[in-house]
Amino acid sequence: MKRLRLLSPAKLNLLLKVNFKRPDGYHDLTTLFERIDLCDELIFERTKDGRITIDCQHPHVPRGPGNLVYKVAALLQDKFRIRQGVRVNLKKNIPVAAGLGGGSGNAATTLLGLNQLWELGLSKAQLMTLGKTMGSDVPFFIAQSSWAVGTQRGDQIQSLSLKTKLWHVLVVPCLKVYTKDVFGAFLTSKKSTVEARTKMLTKPKVNVNILIHVLRKNDVPRIGTLLSNDLEAAIVKLHPQLSKLKNKFEKLDVGGVCFSGSGPSVFCVARSQKQAKAVARSLRKTYARVFVVRTY
Ligand code: C5P
Repeated sequence: MKRLRLLSPAKLNLLLKVNFKRPDGYHDLTTLFERIDLCDELIFERTKDGRITIDCQHPHVPRGPGNLVYKVAALLQDKFRIRQGVRVNLKKNIPVAAGLGGGSGNAATTLLGLNQLWELGLSKAQLMTLGKTMGSDVPFFIAQSSWAVGTQRGDQIQSLSLKTKLWHVLVVPCLKVYTKDVFGAFLTSKKSTVEARTKMLTKPKVNVNILIHVLRKNDVPRIGTLLSNDLEAAIVKLHPQLSKLKNKFEKLDVGGVCFSGSGPSVFCVARSQKQAKAVARSLRKTYARVFVVRTY
């Protein structure tokens, strides 16, 4: 095989609990991931010259060693003494730095793609171990499942065999939010580590299990009531204007409204595709980047 075309989907976090700060500086999380059908596209072409070349038209995506796709290819070349090169065409449809896991998804897709193209024969577990060094969300995308629970750094993945497919409206405000800054603001927001630790011992597991239960039953109104994101206060602290967006969304008679990951993306659970389209129409009067998406 010389050429491979793969889709690189985005994710939403229906629930994100921050349990405590770990000694390595990361945070222990409990999160429920949903893969959605908003996808980037990557075309890989094997070359003989050993070079890594990235073509990408997006103005905010680096084409050199700063790109996660480049980093993954360089890591694999180095680790497995690969002499072949690759040319990657990356078509970005997923907004950057939006809490949708776009960069992590691209890294995961590159691991999966080069594993085939360079015939590395690595297992998913091996790809996950390599992937988590590139970003905490990478293992979720390597799992290639629609639904999963993430624990530890969010990189310990338990795939869920759920048939549920949800409709969402997703609004991506035109501002970049960096995960690192949000976790930094989370530390200084009013939750103390002790409070967070206490929460870990009680709520998160219960909440995630209830959410899985209602997802299994496809109980859409209840799913909406169980959405939660512990990073919300920190996101709004950094960008106070985002609470206006959330309020506007909530007034539209949708099930539940929540930030995804470290924001700024906000999404709702819609009762149907028809409702999602109507809600999106209304939000497009104010916001430029409004998507109707579905579980993928
Ligand atoms: O792993 P990822 O590249 O997505 O993380 C970006 C930043 O977000 C990290 O450098 C860290 O500051 C923060 N983070 C964290 N705890 C996690 C995941 C990310 O503190 N579980």
